[in-house]
Amino acid sequence: MDFALKATVHVSLLLNILVSAAAEPPVLGRRWRGDSGKPSMNSLENGDRDLVTNLPGQPDVDFRHYAGYVTVNEKNGRALFYWFYEATTRPEEKPLVLWLNGGPGCSSVGYGATQEIGPFIVDTDGQGLKFNPYSWNKEANMIFLESPIGVGFSYSNTISDYHNLGDDLTANDAYTFLHKWFLKFPSYRKRTFYIAGESYAGKYVPQLAELINDKNNDPSLHIDLKGILLGNPETSFAEDWKGLVDYAWSHAVISDETHGIIRRSCDFDSNNTWSNDDCCEAVDEVLKQYKEIDIYSLYTSVCFSNSVDSDDKSFQVMMSRTSNTMPRILGGYDPCLDDYAKAFYNRLDVQKALHVSDGHQLRNWSICNYTLFHKWSYSTPSVLPIYTKLIQAGLNIWVYSGDTDGRVPVLSTRYSLNSLRLPITKSWRPWYHQKQVSGWYQEYAGLTFATFRGAGHAVPCFKPSESLALFSSFLLGDSLPSVRGQ
Ligand SMILES: *[C@@H]1O[C@H](CO)[C@@H](O)[C@H](O)[C@H]1NC(C)=O
Ligand SMILES: *[C@@H]1O[C@H](CO)[C@@H](O)[C@H](O)[C@H]1NC(C)=O
Ligand SMILES: *[C@@H]1O[C@H](CO)[C@@H](O)[C@H](O)[C@H]1NC(C)=O
Repeated sequence: MDFALKATVHVSLLLNILVSAAAEPPVLGRRWRGDSGKPSMNSLENGDRDLVTNLPGQPDVDFRHYAGYVTVNEKNGRALFYWFYEATTRPEEKPLVLWLNGGPGCSSVGYGATQEIGPFIVDTDGQGLKFNPYSWNKEANMIFLESPIGVGFSYSNTISDYHNLGDDLTANDAYTFLHKWFLKFPSYRKRTFYIAGESYAGKYVPQLAELINDKNNDPSLHIDLKGILLGNPETSFAEDWKGLVDYAWSHAVISDETHGIIRRSCDFDSNNTWSNDDCCEAVDEVLKQYKEIDIYSLYTSVCFSNSVDSDDKSFQVMMSRTSNTMPRILGGYDPCLDDYAKAFYNRLDVQKALHVSDGHQLRNWSICNYTLFHKWSYSTPSVLPIYTKLIQAGLNIWVYSGDTDGRVPVLSTRYSLNSLRLPITKSWRPWYHQKQVSGWYQEYAGLTFATFRGAGHAVPCFKPSESLALFSSFLLGDSLPSVRGQ
């Protein structure tokens, strides 16, 4: 079998989905053309030093984008890398959205920005970028943050900082990042703000939202956070595991016998789940079967990576287990696309254009940091109590789920949301996009849940146009379209 060929076919398929059906020709002025008009209200901000002007292989666009570092701890030298795209039109009227990817250890630049929802998608030859007509910066000003330190270009000069990487440090550094970033971009300081993310960011996003909500008691720190948006989010240890095994069984990935053993021997609600050997063995069997296919997208072909430097992890479920700790599985991983991103972001001219490097010293970028993933020191068992708190604080929560993902399957999300016992305000029904059923949704007091029919873990990769439509409804606070239309 020609693995290299398979890889190429798989990648071009995905990228075609992303770039096909462009409604309008995407090519506009190479440089931002607002410079010729009256002075922009942002023009003297100190973020201007981060303006990206000559990114190699970048398609011509009509909006400005900025990239660089924000120091979140001077003493230890901790700095987080961000890439910020102004909205394609009228950025001064549009909200600000922070996007986070998961892992833990994976890059929001490598996934969110350049494979999912950013305006520039890494091209398959690793030499340039393609315009994404479904970029979320059509609706909002978008910040992609590489978080925490050790992810992508983000770093610390103090080695010991890496010894206690976990949910807490991640939220605290992201919070500091926001305030420091507002100093660079003061016109966004009071802007309507949202946080969005997928996979393990299902933990990061509510945690950061809670921190903002708590700190908002001090008016001088107030950030106008209005809601959060979560895609196939890791949420609660017990519900996520129950959903993972039930989904594997109900989608014919494992046998009745294996599922039966899990039901009898696994107590996912206990803090001692993995002390039961029968349970461990049966769960290992689930993961063994998932290594045969793509757990993140059950019905697409697996990709066999053909690059020399990618290792055997590429087409496996990344799993980490030491005795008596939970097996953790990396969230959000597509080995073939990852190779192209890796080639692109390890170019000196690209790093220079993004203000990562002085043009001499190359920084070693990878899409996910496996060391960090394996060493993750603390993972909150459940963020559901945070959901309750945020809803009480008046925030809007939207949760969406690609229904062909086995990693954080739609069942996990339903188990989690059901456990909140929120009153239903609009019953289960289909939602439509271009006259087709995109999925189903249900509204609760303070929370909307929507599925994407036939989408895997990283939903916007599979359903770019539908995803942009949902994002738009989320920002407007509108219900999803529940009539088929003309
Ligand atoms: C595990 O849970 C039990 C009760 O459910 C509790 O008493 C115990 O402290 C917990 N242990 C740990 C390590 O959290
Ligand atoms: C870059 O990092 C990867 C692991 O993240 C490592 O395997 C590789 O050797 C590093 N390359 C360089 C040039 O430092
Ligand atoms: C990956 O994370 C580890 C800490 O877990 C850190 O020591 C290392 O520098 C990181 N690698 C890169 C390439 O940033």
